[in-house]
Amino acid sequence: MCRASLLRSAPFELPQGGNAARVEGCSDAIEGACPFFSFLYVPHNFLQMKFFIDTANLAQISEAQDLGVLDGVTTNPSLMAKEGITGDDNIIKHYRAICDIVDDNVSAEVIATDFEGIIKEGEALAALNSKIVVKVPMIKDGIKAIKYFSDKGIRTNCTLIFSPGQALLAAKAGATYVSPFLGRLDDISTEGLQLIEDIRLIFDNYGYKTQILAASIRGPLHIVNCAKIGADVITAPLSAITALLKHPLTDIGLATFLADHAKASGK
Ligand code: E4P
Repeated sequence: MCRASLLRSAPFELPQGGNAARVEGCSDAIEGACPFFSFLYVPHNFLQMKFFIDTANLAQISEAQDLGVLDGVTTNPSLMAKEGITGDDNIIKHYRAICDIVDDNVSAEVIATDFEGIIKEGEALAALNSKIVVKVPMIKDGIKAIKYFSDKGIRTNCTLIFSPGQALLAAKAGATYVSPFLGRLDDISTEGLQLIEDIRLIFDNYGYKTQILAASIRGPLHIVNCAKIGADVITAPLSAITALLKHPLTDIGLATFLADHAKASGK
């Protein structure tokens, strides 16, 4: 049963489009185990949010991977340039190095903007490693290429999404991920989170399998808000991910616990 039919068969009002049932991928298993389960409301958090790191820096990717919570990496031409990675051979070597660190989901962006060029580059990138997700810009030839890749079973990430209509088109073309750029919208005084909320509603209305990859994240609050709205994935700099660890009361509480323990043990 698809998300849309789950929504329609729900016996009571769902809290919000953004929190509605999204059991694609899990529903078969659930229904197999318990056929009448599909008539129930399934909370949005039935699926875990994925964490990607938004960098081409190998040390930071390794650090995030060591934390044990990393599901993937997103890169873009600016992030590659920031690490000084230039020239086709070096770029390919770098993607291979990233793939060696993480388990899956390495977004590698094409540079071409015409259909043939995107296909050529995308196929070459996808052939590097099965972990590669071909990142394609939201342009006309990009949408055509996403449809082509989708038919061939090549995963794609449609990047530079700034409107719900763009996300809908990319989902219709079969994108694996769409990347709405939260921070860049906030930067121009437009509510980035609203875009993600709108996309969530649209995808849930029709049961699109395309995952919402919240990108251009600036800090920990963006991550938390994306989780509240129901983004499937966040991609963030290491600093935003590790900032989730922090709370002054945790530090104070731990210092007190350790001091009390030391006092009681006569140390
Ligand atoms: C990721 O896929 C995007 O390219 C990235 O998040 C953009 O982030 P920025 O707005 O910080 O450059």
